[in-house]
Amino acid sequence: MNKLKGIKVIATGRALPKECLANSDMEKLVETSDEWIYERTGIRQRYRCVKGEENTNTLAVNAAKDALLKSGIDKNEIGVVVVATSSVEHVFPSTAAMVQKELELDEKVFCFDLSAACTGFIYGLTVARGLLSDSSKPYALVVGSEQLSRLIDYTDRNTCILFGDGAGAAIIKLDDGDFYHVEYTRGNDEALYIGGIGGGERYLQMNGREVFKFAVKALAQVIEELLDAAHKTIEDIDCVICHQANERIIRSVMRKYAGSEHKFYMNIENYGNTSAASIPIVMSELDDKNNLKNKTCLMAGFGAGLTYGGILASI
Ligand SMILES: CC(C)(COP(=O)(O)OP(=O)(O)OC[C@H]1O[C@@H](n2cnc3c(N)ncnc32)[C@H](O)[C@@H]1OP(=O)(O)O)[C@@H](O)C(=O)NCCC(=O)NCCS
Repeated sequence: MNKLKGIKVIATGRALPKECLANSDMEKLVETSDEWIYERTGIRQRYRCVKGEENTNTLAVNAAKDALLKSGIDKNEIGVVVVATSSVEHVFPSTAAMVQKELELDEKVFCFDLSAACTGFIYGLTVARGLLSDSSKPYALVVGSEQLSRLIDYTDRNTCILFGDGAGAAIIKLDDGDFYHVEYTRGNDEALYIGGIGGGERYLQMNGREVFKFAVKALAQVIEELLDAAHKTIEDIDCVICHQANERIIRSVMRKYAGSEHKFYMNIENYGNTSAASIPIVMSELDDKNNLKNKTCLMAGFGAGLTYGGILASI
C-alpha cells in the first residue's frame, strides 16, 4: 500500500428523524424486551422517519446543511458530492442531486450516490478523495444517509430492533497528512439481502450469526492491515471509528487492544445501526467534542455485499 495524498475534515454534520423508538416501544411491536436487546446489541433506542415528512433525501440535506453551516466555506467551491445510501427515496434523480438542489450548489459539481451498504461512507470518503485530486474545486461533501425503516419488517424481531434512520456528513479537502485505505467485497447475497425493482424480498433478510462472525473478522483484519501499512500501532491512533452495528462486535475486536479500549468510540446505544450513516454520525459527535480534527483516526466498516474496508488518516 503506497502513501497517498491525505484529507482534512473541514466540518461535519448530522441529522436525525423526529420519532425516537425506545426498546420499550419495540416491546409493543414484537415479542422482545429491553433487557434482551441491550444485552445482545448495546442498543437502547433508534430513530425512525415520520412518513410523508422525512426520508433519505431530507436527512441527507439536513446533515449536509449542518456541515456546510459549520464549515464557513463558499459552497460554490464544492466540486464533488457523494451520498452513500442503500435506501434511496427515488430511483432517480439521485439523493446527491437533491442535496445539490436544496443546498443551491453550483451546477459544476460531480454528484452521485454510492451503494456499498454499511461500508458506504468509507468507500465514499476514499472515492471523494480520489476525485478531488482531479477537480478544479477544493472541497468534497460526503454524506451517509439512510431510511432503512422503510425496508424493515416491523413484525420480524430478528431485524427490526437493530436498525435506525439518520444521516451524517463531512466536508473534506486534500491535505498532506497520512492516508491509507482498504476495500473488499465478497459477492455475497445471502447473509444480508433486500430486494429492489427487480423483485425479491422487499424487507431486509439477515443471517445474524453469520454476519456477526464475518463482522468481527472483517474489522480485525482491516484494523491490522491499516496499522501495518502505516507502520503504526494502536498507540499511534487517537480514535477508532467502527461501523455501529452491535456493541458486542466492537467489544470483541477491541479486546485485542488492551489499554486502548477508550479509543473505540461507541454511540450505538442511541441510534441503533444506521448503516452508511453510522460512521459520519460518530464523526460529527467526536467533532462536537473537539476530538476529530487534527487527529489520527482509524475507521472501519462492514456490511451487505459482503463489503468491508477502512481508512487510516490524519484528519
Ligand atoms: C442479530 C443478533 C443481535 C442476534 O443475537 P444472537 O446472540 O446471535 O442471537 P441468536 O440469533 O442466537 O438468537 C437467540 C434467540 O433469541 C431470539 N431472538 C432474536 N431476536 C430477538 C429479539 N429481538 N428479542 C428476543 N429474542 C430474540 C431468537 O429467536 C433465538 O431464539 P431461539 O434460540 O429460540 O431460536 C446478532 O446475531 C447480531 O447482531 N448479528 C449481526 C447483525 C448485524 O450487525 N447486521 C448488520 C450488519 S451491517
